[in-house]
Amino acid sequence: MKINLPALPYAAHALEPYISERTVDAHQRDYLKTYVTKLKDLVQGTKFANADLDTMIIKADGLILYNAAQIWNHTFYFSGINKRKEYKLDGNFIEALRHKFGSLNGFRDAIINKAVTMFGSGWIWLIIDEKGKLELIQEIDAESPLRKGMKPLLAIDLCEHAYYLDYPNRRIDYINSFLKLLDWEIIEKRYNQYNVKKGAKKEYAHAV
Ligand SMILES: [Fe+2]
Repeated sequence: MKINLPALPYAAHALEPYISERTVDAHQRDYLKTYVTKLKDLVQGTKFANADLDTMIIKADGLILYNAAQIWNHTFYFSGINKRKEYKLDGNFIEALRHKFGSLNGFRDAIINKAVTMFGSGWIWLIIDEKGKLELIQEIDAESPLRKGMKPLLAIDLCEHAYYLDYPNRRIDYINSFLKLLDWEIIEKRYNQYNVKKGAKKEYAHAV
């Protein structure tokens, strides 16, 4: 597999005023590009030379795992947010969110709680666990839920490079802004890929 720098699904300024063009540009062009460059060098001459990222994440270890996971995680992170738009959540997904978090506000509060209780660099993930239940988890550094058989729906980068230009030492402000960018259509689509129930009616306009 040819490893390329993943393109952003929108222009670098598209997330303003919540996440600045400067931050998105540095995040993608500096950090993500570095992971791509390193991984290209690392896999040369190894059994992972033609592997895709998912395979590397599941089967590799050390630096190949680290850099492959960083690329996968960042691609997933950028594709889970967009400029806020109205979207009606599907009956199945909103039911699952309510069952786990009580409400969308409860979901937001749970993410904030995860963010303030995580020390150092890492990620918060909304995942479907092996029992099919929604869960919020913290992962240190570039750990991947894929290695644990979990199905990710949303990734939140808590590394300082994701927000320090816009919110120096203010992780909570970054999280609150991030929550305003959630692309519910994408997140729900990911959920429905794993939980296909036909005939559910749309019934709830999101308001996070
Ligand atoms: Fe990052």
